[in-house]
Amino acid sequence: MTATILPTPADLSITPRDRRFGREAAAPRLWHGGRVEATAIYNALSTTFPAGEAFFVESVRAFREDAPAKLAEEIKGFTPQVAIHSREHDAFNKRATSSGYDLSRLEAQIEKRLAVTRTKPPIVSLAATMALEHFTAILAHQLLANPRHLEGAEQEAADLWRWHAVEEIEHKGVAYDTWLHATRYWPRWKRWKVKAKVMLYVTRNFVVDRTAGSLELMRQDGVSGLRAWALLLHYLWVRPGMFRKIAGAWLKFFLPGFHPWNQDDRHLLRRYEASVTPKREPARKVRRAA
Ligand SMILES: [Fe+2]
Ligand SMILES: [Fe+2]
Repeated sequence: MTATILPTPADLSITPRDRRFGREAAAPRLWHGGRVEATAIYNALSTTFPAGEAFFVESVRAFREDAPAKLAEEIKGFTPQVAIHSREHDAFNKRATSSGYDLSRLEAQIEKRLAVTRTKPPIVSLAATMALEHFTAILAHQLLANPRHLEGAEQEAADLWRWHAVEEIEHKGVAYDTWLHATRYWPRWKRWKVKAKVMLYVTRNFVVDRTAGSLELMRQDGVSGLRAWALLLHYLWVRPGMFRKIAGAWLKFFLPGFHPWNQDDRHLLRRYEASVTPKREPARKVRRAA
């Protein structure tokens, strides 16, 4: 048997931070600096999380049975983190609904995608999770590294997105390590081919669905047609240009020897922990779920 290399840092601790955001006061409808396109993009992304995160957990846990001790430990930290993300984004989405947005079309599209994936063998769900987790981790890195992305955002909402980004970085190797373990007997070429195909497929769906979702929410704010497209594309590709800025990191996924922890970005986690003011409720450590 070939030993599987797990380059997730040996001293990494995946620790759920059980925080709650925005329960006290209502945020303005256009919480992201009064900007229709910025609010729409983040709201569209948030809509994916309650069902999406549940799918990630289910996909990873399907392969936990014979996981080596270190991977089993990673999965134990991952599960409650992801469950709390679902809870907080569900609350965030309810606030969007109470400020007048109708998210039903976006939610239906997510359910449709998940239903298609669930008809496939469990390894496909794991591959999709691994690809989406890389996507999420590079978005998270960019969000924390560049304060421009949340510039002007309402405080509690910005705090939610930063908190989520921190934990996405912390657990970014879990689905990938599970994948390495689950496919440990596959030939390298097959592993790469499946991984590359799945990444292209989920990226296409992600871009198409989040664009459609954002345009739908902008339409609900009375912005449509060419103006909506121009605002959206400018925001995503030009300034602050999230998609442009993650393009290089996205491409690295296809390189031989790729692993999410080839980039050790734990300095962003340390910076975040140092920035959480003492006034705030300290990160409550949650006992890891078995
Ligand atoms: Fe998450
Ligand atoms: Fe994640």
